[in-house]
Amino acid sequence: MEKLVSRWCKNKPLPESYIFPPETRPGNLVVPTCNTIPVIDLSKAEGQNRTHIVQQILKAGQEVTCFVIDLCKQVVNHGVPESLMNESMDVFKEFFEMPWEDKAMLYSEDPKDSCRLSTSSVNYAREKIHHWRDNLRHPCHPLQDCIKHWPQKPIRYREVVAALSVEAKKLGLRILELVSEGLGLESGYFGDKLSEALHLFVNHYPPCPDPSLTLGITKHCDPNLLTILHQGDVHGLQIFNNEEWIGVEPLPNAFVVNIGNQLQIISNNKLKSGEHRVVTNSRVARTTAAFFIAPSEDSIIEPAISLVGEASVYRAFEYKDFLLDYLSHMGNNEVVLGRFESQSLNN
Ligand code: OGA
Ligand code: NI
Repeated sequence: MEKLVSRWCKNKPLPESYIFPPETRPGNLVVPTCNTIPVIDLSKAEGQNRTHIVQQILKAGQEVTCFVIDLCKQVVNHGVPESLMNESMDVFKEFFEMPWEDKAMLYSEDPKDSCRLSTSSVNYAREKIHHWRDNLRHPCHPLQDCIKHWPQKPIRYREVVAALSVEAKKLGLRILELVSEGLGLESGYFGDKLSEALHLFVNHYPPCPDPSLTLGITKHCDPNLLTILHQGDVHGLQIFNNEEWIGVEPLPNAFVVNIGNQLQIISNNKLKSGEHRVVTNSRVARTTAAFFIAPSEDSIIEPAISLVGEASVYRAFEYKDFLLDYLSHMGNNEVVLGRFESQSLNN
């Protein structure tokens, strides 16, 4: 519990153990904000503009080498009630503002605990440099099994977050349906086991004494299928595009949708998962909520047959094996994906 950044950081200088090496620290905090990420109006997907929206989503996922838009999309008019989004963000902020004794029972340093309050990356004990972030995580599916492990305070946490997680799953499946349409896959391709799991990560980044030297989360790709992120109203998310870091503008009532590693693999590289990171700021705390839609751990992942063409870039594997490799090569996307390529010598 003492290790939580929010517990000790007030009026303290940045400890040595949070200082990243010069090549990975943010340094210059003024980066361009990204106006090339398409803002997709999902309500249009139900009408005669459906093909256009499908194309917009696909384009965003395809041209990764040239455009920022490939890496993530912002989605508005997504069907999740604004009041629910606001109330959830209030509950998440309240959670981190509660007295320590109300949170102590959730704190755990064991990476195997799926429902826990922790700090920094997945494995504090093993990492060289700590991240400027506290984190509450828990599964959200199946709801009736996992809800009893969720925080009991704030009192409305379970009710509000249950409603939000149902909406997040619905939204994710809607987007995946548009993706499968765009890729020419059958309806429901990403349903069932490929999108069975839902995990919520609530990230809390307290104000930081020197944002130029540290990171909230270091460069990474999300290992799952699709991430639906509500980044609140404070800047901090950056994506790596054309050899530079670009800030993703927090838009009111919007979700940022990130393509995860498994969507890249199943699409045989037609869609790309994007590298991103989180910078801190010295003024205000930033609280974000990321829903990770992921395959069940025993799912077999492989490129969709109709997308393989001349060659399958990846071999078939069990999702849980990918997760193990992801954790041991944290942050190195090329190495992790490389280990699951058909031609890999290391598999
Ligand atoms: C993540 C992530 C971004 C943010 O949790 O994987 O990239 O802005 N979060 O908190
Ligand atoms: Ni991420």
